[in-house]
Amino acid sequence: MIQKNLYIKTYGCQMNVYDSGRMADILKPLGYTLVESSEGADLVILNTCHIREKAEEKVYSDLGRIRPHKDDKMILAVAGCVGQAEGAEIMRRAPYVDIVLGPQTYHRLPEMIARAERSRDKKEGPGRGVLDVEFPVESKFDHLPEDHTEVGPSVYIAIQEGCDKFCTFCVVPYTRGAEYSRPVQAIFEEAKRLIDRGAKEITLLGQNVNAYHGESPQGQEWGLGRLMEHLSSLKGLLRLRYMTSHPRDMDEELMVSHRDIPQVMPFLHLPVQSGSDRILETMNRKHTRKHYLDIIEKLRNHRPDMALSSDFIVGFPGETDQDFEDTLNLVREVGYAQAYSFKYSPRIGTPGALMENQVPEEVKTERLARLQELLNTQHQAINEACVGQTLSVLLDRRGKQEGQLLGKTPWLQSVHLDAPSRLFGACVDVKIEKASANSLTGTVVTVEDVLKRSA
Ligand code: 5AD
Ligand code: SF4
Repeated sequence: MIQKNLYIKTYGCQMNVYDSGRMADILKPLGYTLVESSEGADLVILNTCHIREKAEEKVYSDLGRIRPHKDDKMILAVAGCVGQAEGAEIMRRAPYVDIVLGPQTYHRLPEMIARAERSRDKKEGPGRGVLDVEFPVESKFDHLPEDHTEVGPSVYIAIQEGCDKFCTFCVVPYTRGAEYSRPVQAIFEEAKRLIDRGAKEITLLGQNVNAYHGESPQGQEWGLGRLMEHLSSLKGLLRLRYMTSHPRDMDEELMVSHRDIPQVMPFLHLPVQSGSDRILETMNRKHTRKHYLDIIEKLRNHRPDMALSSDFIVGFPGETDQDFEDTLNLVREVGYAQAYSFKYSPRIGTPGALMENQVPEEVKTERLARLQELLNTQHQAINEACVGQTLSVLLDRRGKQEGQLLGKTPWLQSVHLDAPSRLFGACVDVKIEKASANSLTGTVVTVEDVLKRSA
């Protein structure tokens, strides 16, 4: 088999990270090996994100940078949510792109590549591109290879996809399609294979992961809490996480799983977007501020050390100073260990883009800065409170320099430390010595024990 070089650039969310990994898995049997640069690659895939305008612009500027070194043999593909949303428009704006596909059709990449190579070899010229942005009846999950090419200590499994909620700011229901849950057995088997190959922590992914309602082995419908209970029986699985959740779908079974299932970590990413009921209503979030705060209270009753994370949008159409103050107050009330905050970006095709009372850019900028300052103070305080404590850290990444490893606490804080590379993949006790808003630094306190156990 001829060896070929594949370069994939991933933009956007964790689901795209998972998808990029799966694309590499599909292409491996065709002789493709991953490389670090698009220069000289036989196949370049940009796995794109459409969520905000900036993410989209980045794709066109990256295409412009790749173009000069696109030689006769290189096949250039745009995958992901921009591919889905823009389709043929990409080929019009960038006719040198060979393939455009969406998130639901990448299991068909081998045939798309074969078609693109045929028209390349026949020198059909611009306009010959292959476009596949369908929402096929078959699920791509049924057509992906069983094995993952690369398996680290911390892995993702997509269990749910798409969204039926239609928040008025969001493109996801249009780019990822309707809600779909994979059957329990398929997820269980994927998890087992990953654990057999060294995975210790699994993050279950979905745009609306807690809306999960997959078919159980006995043909019933299971929610996410029940699924995690089933997965927790897998020997060797130390940690379970899930993201991203919607407040409307936080049921009791899921909330108590943080108390009752030891592998389910005391951390939840639960986006609220805004602290103002008026804005939540126009965003079509289908929940109130009170509903959100009640969930947090219940979770903390079940699990007092629960750490929270959220997404926020500032400057949604009609957002007044008072609405924004309501968001700041909600942040003060909850206390976030992590958060992602964005200026509202109007997306064509979503109701928000057509709303009157768009908020001026300067106002959005000023609000974002104030919100981020408050959030940073909270992150810093939560991290500083860890100094002097000994925390359990899963060493899941290698540092830039030899002898450095990176890991995560149960509360998803990143920890930097000096440790022998033999400890990679181990869960160790670390004495925390320093803290910043984004990470912790510490020393392993149980090296000898760990080495003995793993010997
Ligand atoms: N503008 C700004 N932020 C957005 N998000 C989604 N759509 C938009 C938009 N149009 C944010 C939300 C969501 C996160 C993934 O991205 O906060 O939770
Ligand atoms: Fe971006 Fe949303 Fe698509 Fe993820 S699902 S890549 S966040 S547009």
